Amino acid sequence: MTASGTRTPDRVALDELGEWQRALRAQFPIITGHPGLAYLDSAATAQKPRAVLDAVHDYLTTSNANAGRGTYPWANRTTDLVARGRDRIKRFLDDPAPERSAVHFTSGTTEGLRTLARDWLPRFLADGDEIVVPVADHRANIEPWLEARRLLAAQGVHVGVRPMPYQRDSGDYDHTALAELAGPRTRFVAVTHVHHVYGGDMNVHRIRRAVGDDAVICLDAAQSVGHLPVSVAGLDVDFVVFSGHKAMALPGTGAVWARQVRGPEFVPGGWSGTPNTVGVASLTAALDWLDAAGTDRIERWTAALAARLTDRLRHLDGYEILGCRTSLAADSPVQQRRGIVTFRHREISSGDLGFLLYSHGFMVRSDSHCQGSAGEQTDSVRVSLHVYNTADEIDRLLTVLASVG
Ligand code: ALA
Repeated sequence: MTASGTRTPDRVALDELGEWQRALRAQFPIITGHPGLAYLDSAATAQKPRAVLDAVHDYLTTSNANAGRGTYPWANRTTDLVARGRDRIKRFLDDPAPERSAVHFTSGTTEGLRTLARDWLPRFLADGDEIVVPVADHRANIEPWLEARRLLAAQGVHVGVRPMPYQRDSGDYDHTALAELAGPRTRFVAVTHVHHVYGGDMNVHRIRRAVGDDAVICLDAAQSVGHLPVSVAGLDVDFVVFSGHKAMALPGTGAVWARQVRGPEFVPGGWSGTPNTVGVASLTAALDWLDAAGTDRIERWTAALAARLTDRLRHLDGYEILGCRTSLAADSPVQQRRGIVTFRHREISSGDLGFLLYSHGFMVRSDSHCQGSAGEQTDSVRVSLHVYNTADEIDRLLTVLASVG
């Protein structure tokens, strides 16, 4: 009998990657410096490896200046840093045509989506067009599109909004219903790569077939960039928007990648001031670190931890797991859970549970997670994982959850 015949896929992944993971975990000073705590809130922001801290320190102590303005060496190095940062993002996203695409730095996903809704979408849409909005996803991927519609309506351009259809049991998009709903006037479709509450991979590679060749697809990749390979060569999307701080860079960083094939070119409007040069230095270092670590292995590790937590938590009577409960296994072809598990206790409020968990050293998010109005109506506890988390942390968490009942 083979070893894998006796063990679940998540157990195999944890065994195979254990040594690799220990070496990476050792590179996070905030993690190794707090052995009594378990950081389980990486969907909100990720911790930073030493390489990112060093890159920030090096930049600020050797080259700090403004970009695109001066002609002396520090200024030139900073201008170069920002240009290299754009190229680094294209490479990280496996961009098949980098000479044609564009990267615009933002302060994060929310600002990126708002910039598209403000500066690009109104130039693209005409009276009678329709857009599809993912009404059970993060509000940052809902409200900018509705606001754009309101502003266009005030100018006499009326755009229809179609709520994205979802599968009731899993939280995945209903790709069949989407194909039925999409018509020739469906010009723009906003989607999310990994759901920030349900943790499911939203199977966005199926969206293009559902909506046809002409519609623009905008991908909110806040919960995927830095956590799993994101290849725009494979995903036929037009925009990828993500946050640097969730990909191990500093807060206040992020980007919009634009394919520049469908619709007008994406050129952010207005006068752009000084770029976040330190943030770009941190983002470039973070993407270098993530590529060297291997986003495929990070995905495998965090999905294995999430499967371990889900598969055991569902046997504890007091808890309800949100999102897909029937296709959670790491080898499921249907919908895979990434490194996010969200749940409620049937009697204890999620706020109280969050405090209780912290009293045992576990840092989780417990609230409504900024989900759109078609999503969950009550608060929940979210455990979100990254490469520095361990099976031991999951097991200790389960012991505490079991003791609560
Ligand atoms: N959007 C981030 C989250 O889901 C902050 O926690």
